[in-house]
Amino acid sequence: MVLQLGDIAPDFEAETTEGKLRFHEWLGQSWGVLFSHPKDYTPVCTTELGYTAKLKPEFEKRGVKAIGLSVDPLQDHLGWSKDIAETQGQSLNFPLIADPERKIANLYGMIHPNASDTLTVRSVFIVDPSKKIRLTLTYPASTGRNFDEILRVIDSLQLTDRQKLATPVNWKPGDDAIIVPSVKDDEAKKLFPQGFKTLKPYLRLVRPSS
Ligand code: BEZ
Repeated sequence: MVLQLGDIAPDFEAETTEGKLRFHEWLGQSWGVLFSHPKDYTPVCTTELGYTAKLKPEFEKRGVKAIGLSVDPLQDHLGWSKDIAETQGQSLNFPLIADPERKIANLYGMIHPNASDTLTVRSVFIVDPSKKIRLTLTYPASTGRNFDEILRVIDSLQLTDRQKLATPVNWKPGDDAIIVPSVKDDEAKKLFPQGFKTLKPYLRLVRPSS
């Protein structure tokens, strides 16, 4: 099954470095970032996990919980966690799923057999509080992901949900945003009393209110 944007993220039960959990129950009303790692004790994954742990305060500010997955057993995760703390200067502070039977990896299409039939690719799923998938991302095993970009997407999605705004190329928080085309000028004047700039009837820029 290919999971697409707007689908409900499949629920599952998992064994993790923070005990057993059921995904939807664990998420509660939070947003979630579920991301896979090809294998334990691998260099790129080690850096990704350390960096994501350092971002915990940024995730918390946005009401987001992070959860990783690797298709190795829990015992390996526990040993590897010590290496992550030692080399990245940051301990894991979110659950890492042990999925040695690849049940969750297969449920989420994280194994791409023509890339490798044993390792997962680097998948990311951003899930909103209604459990809908709002972003999917697939990177090859050899390329570490940019977790600052994942935070930026969450900022964009949360802005869209709050204010009927979309975000332009390379947008970052504080920049002007775009009034979505379904909002006509009359409604835009009410929604954005601070005013907006019309470059074309379909391209209207506004400074979002905080
Ligand atoms: C890594 O995490 O370093 C890695 C994993 C699989 C293939 C290549 C690199």
